[in-house]
Amino acid sequence: MNVLVVGGGGREHALAWKLAQSPKVDTVFCAPGNPGMKQAEAVPITDLHELAEFAKAQNVELTMVGPEVPLCEGIVGIFREKGLRVVGPDKNAAQLEGSKSFAKDFMERHGIPTAAYGLFTDRDSALAYIREQGAPIVVKADGLAAGKGVIVALSLQEAEDAVEECFDGRFGDAGAKVLVEECLVGEEASILALTDGKTVLPLASSQDHKRLMENDGGPNTGGMGAYSPAPVVTEELWRLIDEQVLQRFLTGCQADGLDYHGVIYAGVMVTADGLKVLEFNVRFGDPETQAVLMRLESDLAEVLVATADEKLADVQLEWSDEPAVCVVMASGGYPGSYAKGHPISGLDEAEATGAVVFHAGTKLVDGALVNHGGRVLGVTARGTDIRAAVDNAYKAVDCIAWQDAFCRRDIAHRAFDR
Ligand code: AMP
Ligand code: GLY
Repeated sequence: MNVLVVGGGGREHALAWKLAQSPKVDTVFCAPGNPGMKQAEAVPITDLHELAEFAKAQNVELTMVGPEVPLCEGIVGIFREKGLRVVGPDKNAAQLEGSKSFAKDFMERHGIPTAAYGLFTDRDSALAYIREQGAPIVVKADGLAAGKGVIVALSLQEAEDAVEECFDGRFGDAGAKVLVEECLVGEEASILALTDGKTVLPLASSQDHKRLMENDGGPNTGGMGAYSPAPVVTEELWRLIDEQVLQRFLTGCQADGLDYHGVIYAGVMVTADGLKVLEFNVRFGDPETQAVLMRLESDLAEVLVATADEKLADVQLEWSDEPAVCVVMASGGYPGSYAKGHPISGLDEAEATGAVVFHAGTKLVDGALVNHGGRVLGVTARGTDIRAAVDNAYKAVDCIAWQDAFCRRDIAHRAFDR
């Protein structure tokens, strides 16, 4: 069958790479794709209706949507209308990521543990609430803000500034409603699962590294690296996650009539007070997916078809016992502004070590590969244990260079600490 991956980042490269390994898959299309995707045919179409026409014309039998934006724009409904099989929640259900207040209401209604919060549409009441609660406190723009809409404020001043920025329009419409949340302390994990609306099938656990700098300092980013499995997710914790998060998510969708055939991503925090959900995303995580898919031994195409066709109950996933690590290499200056167009060298040498280099922010200019985004590459490797996986990933990283490239050197440090 022909398959289509929507998106063009590292997560989508990993999806295309894995789908291309399926004996059932003929052609992988990726819209728009990226220069690293040797396994896929790039499709330069951004309009969702046009893309559905394309998929129909190319006999695409499975479409997997990577990013949240097309899901929130209703790609699932648009494809289904044309009789196309597509994995993802519909536009209404995608609000679980697209609107933090929608997600909070959902969690409250269905007993999913989460941080205490207040929701505000005007700055005076938000500021009054913050002064009453005190710092540290978390300020979140309600809508999609490309991962930049969450401010963990350590002081009252910082929190007040964040509220002002939201209402001043820094995040556009996304900041018209502001959530102020209790600041949780603990270790985070990324829980990915698939649901077909009837069953939930958890994937391997993973952990992201959201902060820019080593030892989790500096600003939040889209994610500087990930590894799987995350030892913080013990067997006992998995039991709680299944019971308190995944099953309640499923029955919640059923009770609310949400059409959800896709990926659940629960960002959880393990606190002294128990398990809390920080957020739901309605798609695979980036860079978690790069690490998780390196360990998946099952046929991803089959699994995704089962997700769309409500046959997940029949699926059992096979995983490699070997941990996997993805180290993100970024452009100097990210997440602020950065220079583009520096030639990248050493990719063949890096892959000769056995690692897989997933592209995210690269571009081909006159035949030369250059950096073009903030997060540029996700260098991903497995190993017999987590230390070996880390060593293998950095061995490959050290082959690669471009001007001002940087990465964190401590990916997976929490696994070592345990
Ligand atoms: P989110 O996009 O909601 O997952 O937030 C991004 C990051 O901000 C999370 O991965 C956490 O590191 C941090 N964060 C979000 N909410 C909280 C909270 N209530 N307490 C502490 N940290 C938080
Ligand atoms: N790695 C964080 C995210 O995908 O939202």
